[in-house]
Amino acid sequence: MGFRKVGVVGLGTMGAGIAEVLARGGVETVGVEINDAALERGRGNIEASTGRAVKRGRLSEEAQAEILGRVVFSTDFAALSDCDLVIEAVPERIDLKEKVFAELDKVCGPDAVLATNTSSLSVTEIAAATTRPDSIVGVHFFNPAPVMKLVEVIGTERSRPEFVSAVTELVRDLGKTPVTIGDRAGFVANRLLFGYLGPAARLLESGEAGKEDIDASMTAIGLPMGPLTLMDLIGLDTCLEVLEAIHRDSGEARHEPAALLRSLVAEGALGRKTGRGFYTYE
Ligand code: CAA
Repeated sequence: MGFRKVGVVGLGTMGAGIAEVLARGGVETVGVEINDAALERGRGNIEASTGRAVKRGRLSEEAQAEILGRVVFSTDFAALSDCDLVIEAVPERIDLKEKVFAELDKVCGPDAVLATNTSSLSVTEIAAATTRPDSIVGVHFFNPAPVMKLVEVIGTERSRPEFVSAVTELVRDLGKTPVTIGDRAGFVANRLLFGYLGPAARLLESGEAGKEDIDASMTAIGLPMGPLTLMDLIGLDTCLEVLEAIHRDSGEARHEPAALLRSLVAEGALGRKTGRGFYTYE
């Protein structure tokens, strides 16, 4: 079907990264946030990320201007009315997602595909907030979205197969590697990845190893980041939500989040985005 214009709702770390990927791929993009301050932060995220690429000699200033020129920023959902695909990337709270999807249901055309970037919630449950659950799919990018190749495309039992195929095709056209899977907590990648990240937090909590040694053990094996540094990058709140969802769904004790992770989140130490998580950042 080919997508002419794509909306992104929520321009935090993930949404801004997704909007950048779309605009870099030549797609007309509409970025929507809830208020002017959030919108300016979102615009700043995309400008900073593409600006880093200019500094590193990966992108010309003209190309950066073209990419930014492809994104329309708005605080009004009505700006999404002529999008043929909208990707929601708001925080991982079911009440928020349901509100966004109920709004999209009102403003988007009848043939629009509505997608969620959720990493831990049920796509089926989110779809139930609309009058058109067959139009809803999951499209799960990884952090940092401009760099990570993997994108999970999730079809529920109700999703129209041609919508799942069209989104998979778009992901491929954007230079990413799509995998198409069913609606299950943690999908595939997080189910496997958090089977490793969860125990890393518990190992630190046990006092048997320090954080630098835990991380060095895995970078020296060849992974790009140690598990605690990676959790700080993902966001400890997101890590906790993903672990809780997988734990609920699987009932397996090994997925139970570490008390240390819970207490860091309760203190507001959410990782890089707040300047403190397992580590402290400038
Ligand atoms: N945004 C855009 N680009 C970024 C970036 C960001 N936040 N961070 C790094 N990059 C780019 C850099 O600009 C650089 O690009 P060029 O090669 O074109 O110059 C490239 O990535 C490499 O960056 P660096 O040299 O600065 O640093 P690095 O080599 O240490 O790589 C990394 C950084 C790409 C983040 C790498 O450490 C890595 O791959 N880490 C693992 C990340 C990962 O596993 N993510 C998945 C998390 S799970 C998830 O997201 C799912 C969920 O639902 C929770």
